[in-house]
Amino acid sequence: MSETLENLLKETRQFPPPAALAAEANVKADAYAEADADRLAFWERQARRLAWAQDWEQVLDWSNPPFAKWFVGGRLNVAYNCLDRHVEAGLGDRVAIHWEGEPGDTRTITYADLHRMTCQAANALTGLGVTAGDRVAIYLPMIPEAAVAMLACARIGATHSVVFGGFSADALSSRIADASAKVVITADGGFRRGKPSALKPTVDEAVSRSGSVEHVLVVRRTGEEVAWSDRDHWWHETVEQASPEHTAEPFDAEHPLFILYTSGTTAKPKGILHTTGGYLTQTAYTAHAVFDLKPETDVYWCTADIGWVTGHSYIVYGPLANGATQVMYEGTPDTPHKGRVWEIVDRYGVTILYTAPTLIRTMMKWGEDIPAGFDLSSLRLLGSVGEPINPEAWMWYRQHVGRGELPIVDTWWQTETGAIMISPLPGVTATKPGSAMTPLPGISADVVDDQGQSVPNGGGGYLVLREPWPSMLRTIWGDDNRFVETYWSRFDGMYFAGDGAKKDADGHVWLLGRVDDVMLVSGHNISTTEVESALVSHPSVAEAAVVGATDPTTGQAIVAFAIPRGTADVSGDAGEALIADLRNHVAKTLGPIAKPRQIMLVAELPKTRSGKIMRRLLRDVAENRSLGDVTTLQDSSVMELISSGMKGGKSEDE
Ligand code: WT7
Repeated sequence: MSETLENLLKETRQFPPPAALAAEANVKADAYAEADADRLAFWERQARRLAWAQDWEQVLDWSNPPFAKWFVGGRLNVAYNCLDRHVEAGLGDRVAIHWEGEPGDTRTITYADLHRMTCQAANALTGLGVTAGDRVAIYLPMIPEAAVAMLACARIGATHSVVFGGFSADALSSRIADASAKVVITADGGFRRGKPSALKPTVDEAVSRSGSVEHVLVVRRTGEEVAWSDRDHWWHETVEQASPEHTAEPFDAEHPLFILYTSGTTAKPKGILHTTGGYLTQTAYTAHAVFDLKPETDVYWCTADIGWVTGHSYIVYGPLANGATQVMYEGTPDTPHKGRVWEIVDRYGVTILYTAPTLIRTMMKWGEDIPAGFDLSSLRLLGSVGEPINPEAWMWYRQHVGRGELPIVDTWWQTETGAIMISPLPGVTATKPGSAMTPLPGISADVVDDQGQSVPNGGGGYLVLREPWPSMLRTIWGDDNRFVETYWSRFDGMYFAGDGAKKDADGHVWLLGRVDDVMLVSGHNISTTEVESALVSHPSVAEAAVVGATDPTTGQAIVAFAIPRGTADVSGDAGEALIADLRNHVAKTLGPIAKPRQIMLVAELPKTRSGKIMRRLLRDVAENRSLGDVTTLQDSSVMELISSGMKGGKSEDE
């Protein structure tokens, strides 16, 4: 019988935390033992970091799994915790957000400003008839009003549903309908790739199809002409005219805070429901522990969009609950030039940078000269999220962004988990490039085989969570059965995340991609992640995507798509030679079983809007099928590029 998932990649490099960071770290090694000794008491202590209007009677009610209740009976207001209490503590003048628009316009927003804006928005929403429990859809660019809109909903107990500003009218209207949203908050548009990109027409179309929406609140950002109807209200004529006085009322710890639809690439989107007390407890704690946030001195920057869970947990709720100062940027990383990200780090003195592997690999492709052109000496900690980070991309990040010395926290979590679950602690963990390392204190994750048995060190299998955690999803909005079916039915009593993983010889966790992507080659289960990492470890490759294509002899065969680094020569025979070299390189790194049948050199890869590679589409190309659904594709011209400009075909040897 074959193993559940092969463990092929060996990595021996390891980097202890810098001594100075370790000495001053917010969270030290004793946190693990403390949480192990009494998990619920540990989370209870973390909940005390927040201001509660009423204490809880019970930390966790798990009497009706998988439906959890955390901090039962406790009451608090999320916006009060993110804003009022900092202002009351005398920190009103601290910068909450250094905002930069894509055209280069800037705004500096203090905690007092953000508090005032949120109170006004809360009053305006109340004026439009929004009450606690109502749903509000938010469809905005990356402008401060996006955070204000979310906080204003939280303040009055309305449940927000943020829809990423790049989504279509179809996607928006189905999300509005699923949640029966009463109000939509949007803008005329935002700036992207150097020009205004309209949002209001998409909202008009979506709203005309869904009966629930009574009002649309519109921020003026681009100043472009928009169509107008009776249900529309300008933000500057309502919110900015509203009273700045507003008293935040506490809500039950299990009051719904937000719904966020997962960026699933196939099935009907799932409305992931998060609630109040447990969610804020874990996002606040993890921002403190994993980013080692020092609110007095740090300038933190998370490059995610507010439309993803990363933006919810680590732009809005986690950092603001800690009173942090952060950067928020509206646009794309290559507008007007490829150094924009590093220019922003330089300008604001960013100390903590949290980004995604897709951005790091793009930077690798553009070349290290670009970050080298800016002063990045303010940085002290780097983070990664969203996909497995290939060891070579990790090394590049450390070398060319982190001066060869900064710690990198590779953080594994999901929309469903609400907050970071598996990650190094930057002052404690000796990190390995490519590994998310260990479950955080208070989290019990494991890797199990088909039967749900824990795999030994060195083994691969399925990533599961064995115990409930405070920021866990509570259900799928309106569909408890689907919640149970999707996450809790594969293994008895465990949450199944859908990811493959392995434990290395030391028991550290390595994520191996979605289990749906695992390739079955001659009876071996091989993860796409390991083959991709082997390809990226070749000096001529910046990024790679691997899929299993049907093969008459091996069941599935490995087909790879590779983007060469900026400097690599891929013309004519040089391209053929590179392909041959890459196939051998993979075989040498991982063993002959992992040698790709075919490698294609491409200029781009198809990605979802959150930057994840769409292997499903590549499988279609590899199996010469016509393309499937491309609606969630970030840039639809990519597939044409791939099918027309492919270099390399089937190799004949073996
Ligand atoms: C999926 C969740 C978590 C916020 C952004 C994505 C993958 C996420 C990592 C990581 C390997 C990762 C997993 C997970 N993923 N972080 N550090 N290493 N894989 O949220 O859209 O809900 O996606 O992203 O496959 O299941 P999401």
